Amino acid sequence: MNTHAALRSPKEFELTDNDFNRLRELVTKHTGINLSDAKRTLVYSRISRRLRELGLNQFKDYCDLIEQRNSNELENFSNAISTNLTAFFRESHHFDYLANTVLPQILANNHDRQRLRIWSAGCSTGEEPYSLAMVVSEVMPKNSTWDIKILATDLDTQVLATAKRGVYGPDRTSGLSPQRLKRWFTAGKGDQQGKVRVVPELQQMITFKQLNLMHDWPMRGPFDVVFCRNVVIYFDKPTQRVLFQRIAELMPAASHLLIGHSETLFNVSEQFELIGKTIYQRNQ
Ligand SMILES: C[S@@+](CC[C@H](N)C(=O)[O-])C[C@H]1O[C@@H](n2cnc3c(N)ncnc32)[C@H](O)[C@@H]1O
Repeated sequence: MNTHAALRSPKEFELTDNDFNRLRELVTKHTGINLSDAKRTLVYSRISRRLRELGLNQFKDYCDLIEQRNSNELENFSNAISTNLTAFFRESHHFDYLANTVLPQILANNHDRQRLRIWSAGCSTGEEPYSLAMVVSEVMPKNSTWDIKILATDLDTQVLATAKRGVYGPDRTSGLSPQRLKRWFTAGKGDQQGKVRVVPELQQMITFKQLNLMHDWPMRGPFDVVFCRNVVIYFDKPTQRVLFQRIAELMPAASHLLIGHSETLFNVSEQFELIGKTIYQRNQ
């Protein structure tokens, strides 16, 4: 007798312990995300939507579908499970540090090369890379010859589409200063009425790409700054260790790594030194 299932009736679908464990294993295998028992309701609500859209009656059939070789459903599955909460200038002290310390250092030290590379790993709907682009544009000298590129990647293709579009409603932009709103956005027209659009100048700095951090990466770096914030919170420690080792390989000595407010590299990586609140510098 499945106690969870009994408690859950009369729900539209039955999520047995076996289904839940299978789904959990599939999530970890494909995304690195670890789901605790407490995520049962979340899994039910997000995956039952997929069952409805696919006309399936059981979670078991959905698991079978995902397990098929090269399943087309994997993308929807990853999109459904990922948590995409983000905001412009989220954890604003990171952007202050970038503006006041990191970028002035890079301006001084990379003066000959005049090259700046930033990676927003797990960029969600784009607020993080656009915030980075705003700060970089505000700090770097006007009309400079610097070669500046921001790479913004995420597993979830739906959030990436929003990020690429760069159109945001007032609920997303309410935390932005009036100066930044005026300088970096234009009023939306037509079906974007009431919304704002990021100016092309910022969009041109950013390359948005779908990338699963668990898979091979096409880029070689080196990155001067990496933002990997509020992503590994869902990964177990061994997965985090491997990930930060791989990130470290793309970062030269003295480059900066910024992680989320509830994350730490303690017992995860020895390649970085903690130099501020969730701000790390790559070892020499
Ligand atoms: C909570 S959001 C964080 C967004 C932003 N970095 C911030 O701090 O505001 C986490 C993002 O990580 C992405 N993500 C989760 N697992 C991933 C993986 N294996 N590869 C790439 N991105 C992943 C999710 O799709 C989601 O958009």
